[in-house]
Amino acid sequence: MAIEVRKFDAPLGAEIIGVDCAGDLSDALIGEIEEAWYDNLLVVFRDQELDDDRLTAFTRRFGEPDMAPPNPTGRPWLPATPEINVVTNIRVDGELTGNAGNSEMSWHTDLGYIEVPPSASLLYGITCPPVGGDTYFANMYLAYETLPDETREKIQGLKAIHDITTNASGVLRAGYAKVADPRETPGCRHPLVRLHPQTGRKTLFLPRRLNGYVLGLELAESEALLDMLWAHATRDELTFGHKWRQGDLVMWDNRCLIHRRDGFDDSYTRLMHRTQVKGTEPPIPA
Ligand code: OGA
Ligand code: MN
Repeated sequence: MAIEVRKFDAPLGAEIIGVDCAGDLSDALIGEIEEAWYDNLLVVFRDQELDDDRLTAFTRRFGEPDMAPPNPTGRPWLPATPEINVVTNIRVDGELTGNAGNSEMSWHTDLGYIEVPPSASLLYGITCPPVGGDTYFANMYLAYETLPDETREKIQGLKAIHDITTNASGVLRAGYAKVADPRETPGCRHPLVRLHPQTGRKTLFLPRRLNGYVLGLELAESEALLDMLWAHATRDELTFGHKWRQGDLVMWDNRCLIHRRDGFDDSYTRLMHRTQVKGTEPPIPA
């Protein structure tokens, strides 16, 4: 069985047709999916029917699943499957049963604040609102390649702190305090320029803008550099927006894409389950 890959008219992304992600897929077919994923950075499978075990089993074909990120409750959303991150506005007894509620989420890399962030994120739409809650992705290969030469030279070798204290909707995770000074932000330090371990291409690796800090710079200089890089990297011509349909499984490369999400009307229900694949240490760029 060969897959059909329909590229989007966008700087990233393609739909893959002809794959039942719950099915018994050959290594050759997984290899074709991987190739399409490296070429397009993000792939969408429509009309999938996946329970948590099947979502995890499909994820495992691309590497070992990583644990879901720490959330505001301090407990896994689904204790039986702690690798699944629940993203929802569903409440039980007034308490959210997953991340983010109906809020907007600002641009981020999933788990960018850990030592080795995941290679892939897989987000599955179980219940999707008719409008709102679109997810946007920006191509960090292009962001790097379109920087002015002097900026590329300036950021080569610089590292930044990636904030762990809040989730992408700005809510503090359990056990963390509000950051008073970005120079003391908890979270890992990563180079601003990285090499993608599979493609060997350079990418811009931005810290979360909130509480981000470029090591070794005056705070004001770091703020100005980050503002400039973020404005550059999130221009419309580098981005693609996904409108969700129930049954969509979106798998993206977390090493060369950042993403954000629109808020939505809380009278709608949105329920997504997400997995992530453990990453590998990125090679150091020359
Ligand atoms: C996340 C995330 C996007 C979405 O949970 O990290 O980016 O569309 N979610 O809900
Ligand atoms: Mn995310």
